[in-house]
This record gives sequence, C-alpha cells and structure tokens, in this order.
Amino acid sequence: MIELIAVSKTYAGSNIKAVDGLSLKISDGEIFGFLGPNGAGKTTSLKILTGVLKADSGQAMVDGTDVSLDPIAAKSRIGYVSDNPEAFAKLKAVEYLNFIADVYGLDSEQRHKRINDYSSRFEIRDALSSSLASFSRGMKQKLFIVASLLPDPQNWVLDEPMVGLDPKAAFALKSIMRNRADSGKTVFFSTHVMEVAERLCDKLAIINKGKIIFIGSFQELKKLEGEDTSLETLFLELTEKSGELAGNGDAVL
Ligand SMILES: Nc1ncnc2c1ncn2[C@@H]1O[C@H](COP(=O)(O)OP(=O)(O)OP(=O)(O)O)[C@@H](O)[C@H]1O
Ligand SMILES: [Mg+2]
Repeated sequence: MIELIAVSKTYAGSNIKAVDGLSLKISDGEIFGFLGPNGAGKTTSLKILTGVLKADSGQAMVDGTDVSLDPIAAKSRIGYVSDNPEAFAKLKAVEYLNFIADVYGLDSEQRHKRINDYSSRFEIRDALSSSLASFSRGMKQKLFIVASLLPDPQNWVLDEPMVGLDPKAAFALKSIMRNRADSGKTVFFSTHVMEVAERLCDKLAIINKGKIIFIGSFQELKKLEGEDTSLETLFLELTEKSGELAGNGDAVL
C-alpha cells in the first residue's frame, strides 16, 4: 500500500513547485498509472516516494511506514525502476544483480532462482557476464527491471518502464505487472503510453504542474468526460483545460 499525503517539493534555485500538495492512495492489488505531460512532477513524486528525494512538506507512506522517518524499512518494501538506468557502467550485469540482491539481503537460493527466472523472461540471461557499458538502452532497461524484482517487493514502483523495450519485453512486463497485482501486490508506474494505461491500469492519476487533476478508473474518467473517447483524447482535453485554468490563476479541478 502506497500513500502520498499533501506532498510538496520545490527544487533549490527554482520558485515553481514541482509537486504541489499531491495526495494519492494505492491499495494492495492495484495497478496504478501515473500520467501527465513532460515536467508535470511524476518523477519528482516517485523519487519522494522511494526516498531518493526529500519532500518539503507532506508524507510518503509505504505499507504504513513514513519513508522519511524509517527509510530502510520503507525501502525494503519497494522495488524501484528509475527513469535513468545509466549507473554502474563498470560492473558486469551479474555483479550488479548480486549487488542488489546483497542490498536486499537475499539468500543464495532466492537470488539464483530469481536472477535465472527474470533474466530468462526478459531474454538477457546470456548477456549477464557482459559489462553494463556494453548493454543497449533496452537491455539496460530490462536489467534494471529484473533487478527491481529480485526482492519480490510488495510495492513495485516504475518510472516510464516501457521506454526502450521491444514488444516481447513490453508484453512480459505487462504480464508480470498484472500477475503481481492479482496476487495482492501494488504496482505504481508512470507512463506516456496511453494504450498501456487504458488497458492495464485499475486506477489512474493525471497530474499537471504538480497537481492531481484526475484520479480514478478509466471508466470513471469516461463517465466524467465522454463515453466514446479514448484515454489519449481525455488526457489531452484535461491537461489543456487545467493548464488554462492554472494560467488564469483559478483553481484546477
Ligand atoms: N533536478 C532538478 N532541478 C531543478 N528542477 C527540476 C529537477 N528535476 C525536475 N525539475 C523540475 O521539476 C518539474 C517536474 O519535473 P519531473 O521530472 O518530476 O516531471 P515528469 O512529470 O517526470 O516529466 P517527464 O514526463 O518529462 O519525465 C519540472 O518543472 C522540472 O523542470
Ligand atoms: Mg519523469
């Protein structure tokens, strides 16, 4: 279970709130999609949730634990795929996976099984003895997804995970997301891929300029805005509308 409560963040040297009083709750068993235009505040929110960044105010809770008060307990319940899988270039892929397994305290049986299973699923098993520097963008993305799954986390948090994935890997990712949610785990991911969000998510939040402008299911969004409309059209309409309102100094939805 994930909860953000009135979270705000302004980056040093900026006078704009990257995240502005954002609240949302994701229950166990849900796939929750986080949508919004470039610069809306998705990555900033996910970094606050995963303890990478500190909020100026508000709380980020993981299974009832406040990330800023007990970061180790909260982080041990999260698997995280960041938006920038560029780190650790000098390591071999298998060394990186073992490092992550060490961080989460996995025993050798668990780590061997999960490394084998997930790297086979994402078709990078044969490349594990190569250095990360030799990996393509998509292979790196697959490796970081595999790494995030090693602790079998209760909460799986992914920042634009589809980027760079081939269709087979994207399909594998979506299947794993569904299976995990169906087994009572939480999946929280940001994306710009509207078809994925429309088909996969149990709930969605749309964020613009740091604020939530819609939260609910796709069905609820359609009821609100028009039954025969795609998520892409609804997204464009809503973000346009809230941008105009915010521009006029009025409250957003
Ligand atoms: N390190 C930083 N320093 C200063 N400002 C930042 C920093 N990172 C992000 N911002 C600003 O914070 C706001 C939110 O950015 P964020 O990366 O959270 O958006 P996003 O929704 O993830 O966008 P995208 O869809 O492009 O990934 C933007 O105005 C951005 O310019
Ligand atoms: Mg981002």
